[in-house]
Amino acid sequence: MSQLRIETARLLITEFDESMAECVHINSLDEDTLRFVPDEVFATVQEAHDAITFLITCYGDTASPLVYPVLLQSGENIGYVQAVPLADEWEVGYHIAAKHTGNGYASEAVDGFLPVIMRKLGIERIWGICRADNAASRRVLEKCGFSLASQTVGDYHGEVHELCKYLWTVKQA
Ligand SMILES: CC(C)(COP(=O)(O)OP(=O)(O)OC[C@H]1O[C@@H](n2cnc3c(N)ncnc32)[C@H](O)[C@@H]1OP(=O)(O)O)[C@@H](O)C(=O)NCCC(=O)NCCS
Repeated sequence: MSQLRIETARLLITEFDESMAECVHINSLDEDTLRFVPDEVFATVQEAHDAITFLITCYGDTASPLVYPVLLQSGENIGYVQAVPLADEWEVGYHIAAKHTGNGYASEAVDGFLPVIMRKLGIERIWGICRADNAASRRVLEKCGFSLASQTVGDYHGEVHELCKYLWTVKQA
C-alpha cells in the first residue's frame, strides 16, 4: 500500500512516525477517551511509542488496524482516524483531542478519510459503532452520512452498554 496522505480544507491525515509518541500520549489522556475508548489511553510516552511502533508495522496489511494521525496545517497533532477489521468487515474510529473538539474536525477528517481508505481496502461499506450515550460521536457519524442500522445492548470494551451501529456505503456518498 502506498503511503496515505489526505489533505482536507483544514487538516492533514498522514501516517505515524515515532516522533509523535508524546502528543499521542497527551491526547489520549482526555476524559472522553477514558470513558468511551479506554483501550486507546496510553498512560506513558513509552506506551504511546510502543503502540505507534506497532501501528507503523500495520500499514500495508489489510488484516490489521489502520490508524492515521490527524494534524492541523500548523503540524499540531490533534487526534486520529482509523479503519479496524471487524470479522469480514471494517469499522471506522476517530478521536479529536478535547481542546480541539467542537470545531468540526472529526467530521472533516472522517469525510476525507472514508473514500480514500475504502478505495484502498476495496470495500463498499463500513460500520461506525458507538455507545448510545456518546452523543458527539453519534453526531459525527450522522453528519458524515452514516445511517443508523441497529440499536442494541451489547459488550463494549468489556462492559455492557446500549450500542448504536451505523453503516455508510459507497452508494450513499
Ligand atoms: C467524538 C469526537 C471525535 C468528536 O470530535 P469533534 O471534532 O468535536 O466532532 P465535530 O466537531 O466534527 O462534531 C461533533 C458534533 O457533536 C455535537 N456534540 C458534541 N457534544 C454533544 C453532546 N453532548 N450532545 C449532543 N451533541 C454534541 C457537536 O455540537 C457537533 O455537532 P454540530 O456540528 O451539529 O454542532 C470527540 O469528542 C472525541 O474524540 N471523543 C472521544 C473519543 C470518542 O468517543 N471517539 C468515538 C468512539 S465511537
